[in-house]
Amino acid sequence: MGDDLILRHELLTGVLRLTFNRPDKMNALSTPMIRQLEAALDSVATDPAVRILVLAGAGDKAFVAGADIAEYQGNRHAAFAAYQFESRRVFDKLEALPKPTIAAVRGYALGGGFELALCCDILICTESARLGLPEGRLGLCPGGGGTQRLTRAVGRTIAADVMLAGWRLTGARAHQLGLAAELCADAALDETVAARARAMLKIAPLAQAEMKRLIRQGPDAALPVAQSLEQEVLLRLYQTHDGQEGIEAFLHKREPVFRGE
Ligand code: COA
Repeated sequence: MGDDLILRHELLTGVLRLTFNRPDKMNALSTPMIRQLEAALDSVATDPAVRILVLAGAGDKAFVAGADIAEYQGNRHAAFAAYQFESRRVFDKLEALPKPTIAAVRGYALGGGFELALCCDILICTESARLGLPEGRLGLCPGGGGTQRLTRAVGRTIAADVMLAGWRLTGARAHQLGLAAELCADAALDETVAARARAMLKIAPLAQAEMKRLIRQGPDAALPVAQSLEQEVLLRLYQTHDGQEGIEAFLHKREPVFRGE
């Protein structure tokens, strides 16, 4: 298996797009693909030249249509469990990446594809987007956090509709539900993603990493606990170079120069 299952492309300076590249199989997530994704995430996490990560699917039919079902064949329990443990680790790594992430969804985002999108900070859907968790049709259930992350994102009745009825959300519905930050025409996906990424580049990186953590972790804690987490972060950010630079730049009516420290 070559190294081309995940394509890397610099969309803008500081903005890396990773493209799942198995268009003939609807970009289904094979084991080699999961491994390439993990390697890419590890390098993004430590590469100061990458500020923002975008995930996309090759071709115009799918973002990712889920785990590679061909690998599930044959009741090979150990191999199945190994895939589940590995993909869970990689999905968690994506969610915890200390940099903003955008899922650019055109076409099918099913099963693990939808779960990957749910691990990203912002979801941008095109009109052709179809998001679903159809594992029940295979006699299985989601394994990449879908039952939990979708429920937390949209509430249990919509999550039940998606899983118990196998109902797919269109891009328009995802946008209406507040799941997708923006809905655009298929042809406008790249420019819509680039506009969001440009806006993200203006936010101080340390503040971004901390706010990302608060957004993800806060809702699982009691409100006063989460507020204390927030306050601790703010007091820390105030003393950073970028905290002082942002305040000075505003007062002197100039653009801030953030250093990520
Ligand atoms: N795993 C492995 N192969 C997959 C796949 C998956 N998750 N999703 C699609 N493919 C393959 C198909 O088997 C087909 O391969 P082939 O051309 O060698 O026969 C190819 O991708 C094209 O898919 P096809 O089903 O012919 O396209 P379609 O337009 O009729 O339907 C989908 C598209 C996405 C609705 C349909 O492929 C599907 O339901 N995929 C499975 C989704 C799923 O259950 N995901 C959760 C997995 S746990």
